[in-house]
Amino acid sequence: MTISPPPLFAARQMYLRRGGTSLLLHAAPEGLPEVLHWGTDLGPLTPGELAAWARASVGGVVSSSPDVPPRLSLVPSQAEGWTGTPGLAGTRGGVAQFSAFQTTAVDVLATEGADGAASHVRIGAHDQEADLDLELEIEVAASGLLRTRATLTNRGTDAYGVDSLLLALPTPASETLVVDQSGHHLRERETSVHDFTLGTHERTTRVGRAHMASTIHGTCEAGAGWNRGLVHYVHVAWSGNTRTVAERAVLGYQALWGGELLMPGEVALAPGERYATPWLLATWGEGLDEAAGRIHDFLRARPAHPSSTRPVTFNAWEATYFDQSLARLSRLAEVAAEVGAERFVLDDGWYGARRDDTAGLGDWVVSADVWPDGLPPLADVVHGLGMEFGLWFEPEMINPDSDAARAHPEWILSPRTHRPQEERSQQVIDLTNPAAFEHVLGQMLAVVSGARVDFIKWDFNRDLLEAVSPLTGRPAYHAQALATYRLMDALLAANPGLEIESCAGGGGRIDLGVMERAVRVWGSDCIDPLERQGIEAGTSLLLPPELVGSHVASTVSHTTGRTLNLTLRASTALFSHMGIEWNLLEATEGERRELAAWVALHKRLRPLLHTGRVVHADHPDAGWRIRGVVARDGGEAVFTLVRVATSPVRPSPAVRLPGLRPDATYRVTELLPDGVGSPVVRNGRTPESWAWWFDGGAVLPGTVLSTAGLRFPDLDPEQAILVQLRRQ
Ligand code: DGJ
Repeated sequence: MTISPPPLFAARQMYLRRGGTSLLLHAAPEGLPEVLHWGTDLGPLTPGELAAWARASVGGVVSSSPDVPPRLSLVPSQAEGWTGTPGLAGTRGGVAQFSAFQTTAVDVLATEGADGAASHVRIGAHDQEADLDLELEIEVAASGLLRTRATLTNRGTDAYGVDSLLLALPTPASETLVVDQSGHHLRERETSVHDFTLGTHERTTRVGRAHMASTIHGTCEAGAGWNRGLVHYVHVAWSGNTRTVAERAVLGYQALWGGELLMPGEVALAPGERYATPWLLATWGEGLDEAAGRIHDFLRARPAHPSSTRPVTFNAWEATYFDQSLARLSRLAEVAAEVGAERFVLDDGWYGARRDDTAGLGDWVVSADVWPDGLPPLADVVHGLGMEFGLWFEPEMINPDSDAARAHPEWILSPRTHRPQEERSQQVIDLTNPAAFEHVLGQMLAVVSGARVDFIKWDFNRDLLEAVSPLTGRPAYHAQALATYRLMDALLAANPGLEIESCAGGGGRIDLGVMERAVRVWGSDCIDPLERQGIEAGTSLLLPPELVGSHVASTVSHTTGRTLNLTLRASTALFSHMGIEWNLLEATEGERRELAAWVALHKRLRPLLHTGRVVHADHPDAGWRIRGVVARDGGEAVFTLVRVATSPVRPSPAVRLPGLRPDATYRVTELLPDGVGSPVVRNGRTPESWAWWFDGGAVLPGTVLSTAGLRFPDLDPEQAILVQLRRQ
């Protein structure tokens, strides 16, 4: 083994420390390095201490097991005595190949860690058995977020089929629960915890999108919540099939694995070819908010992170559906501008034969029936009102009832003998076919430049079932995801300033692969604010609020049928990248006035909301949903308290407001938009009832507010209040 610096690794240990995270890597004489510790910052340690720690971390040899202590390297293998989930699985000529990597090089790519420690390292390895090279990258970002990825190169003389390449990171044994998410269309990313029993707990998506998948997968201590208990979780930054595994092995190890889920034969490396895994992001914290905050801070530090003020976005979908006309949309744009919208999005239905959801996908040509003069007249109206113009596309899709499909049936991803089941009457266009790719790109470029489009709502409304490219006869999940990225990249490169929103029938494509291109996600097609409480809390485990679209919908929810008040609807949308999706032509004058006041409040608060630290409160009463944003310097904060259901006890116990500076004193008051009345009224209450709330609020230290909390006025179900905190 030849090791170019660092000296610490020459002694077999490398210690990375940054952003409150410590990572100890240990190189065995043979095999790949293993992570001995990932998580809590353990402070500066000497080489001697690291070596002693590493020695004391090796498990013993037990009866009826390999004669070497068990090891869990970054890509675990049986050659290292690991008997659980392998990191790499592959074949040559259809025969399974065992891998036995030897580390050949370690390069330090950056030394920005605490005390000049390494923060980004690259490890090279070679496997003589399977004739493979492996390159591993491990980076600890300034926020303490860990990122790792692998690149495999075939050094053999025949093809190597990659079945699976997953990276493994250990989690502490005190984390006896698994944390993950589940959901479906209209109810995405509900977070839950389960027993971490011996064996594997696996989450996958096999259909190219992720309504039902888990955006995060981790382990946590019993009793962990938003602000307490140790939690570690991973996320695969990939917009295709993914696989994560939480494994608790009898050998006394537990770890999280993550990578792409590959179909057999999908990735076959010719001699000299490489396969790169997506980044695996790994975060940890004392509570979910701290873990999520490391990802938020990492995203916010990217040069491409949207720094401009996020424009309040009016989306016309639930206002008009397919019923489009210049007169109607222009009138809607005027009213949208009046209430303060800064971007107006024309949704599905403007192209080809798309008069309902059964035809037209794949024909990205403006419909002359609906838009006889094209889209420029509407774009002019929108731009003239001072708003950006957004347009909906679903570029990866094709309706069999479309000119494109009639002319090129071979462009539809299908196995040889039949077409996949239709979903919403649509199929998937094979973007790995260069002709199909050029067709979609060419038509999109023409529309985007012709109508001076500032923003694309990029939709994706069906699963990839049996996604075989007729061109190659191979499963195309991996290649289709790469082609989609190429398509987005080409559009962005040709249109400086263009922004993309990632939508997939709502929140079916929310991952940090697409977020290298998109600046907004559509969190869910369910805009009911009660449902949104859970959806947005789950989404916050990956994304900060400025990247998550949340809209004020009409009084009666189109997806749940609930009738909900404007305070609840608006105070929910206000916390994210705010938008409106409501037929304002049917709203009353009073409703529009009130909506405008909420939009104005959002604009006033968004510098705080879109840069501050996101917090949620753990409360014993499941009827409360409490979230807030605290300024980075702790100088101010805003919380929303939502009552989603009645409570078994009343009046409600105290509510803690987490994340405040313990050394600061805050004034706590109700926050209301100008001219909007409070949902909490004194009428009928005794003067003693919540007197502090009605009589100008309270002034208290952050320690009291965050640890003991306050008794807020009881709210009826489906009511919300906003709470403002200002440092005194
Ligand atoms: C699904 C999206 O999530 C909706 O917002 C809307 O754009 C429809 N597709 C349009 O077909």
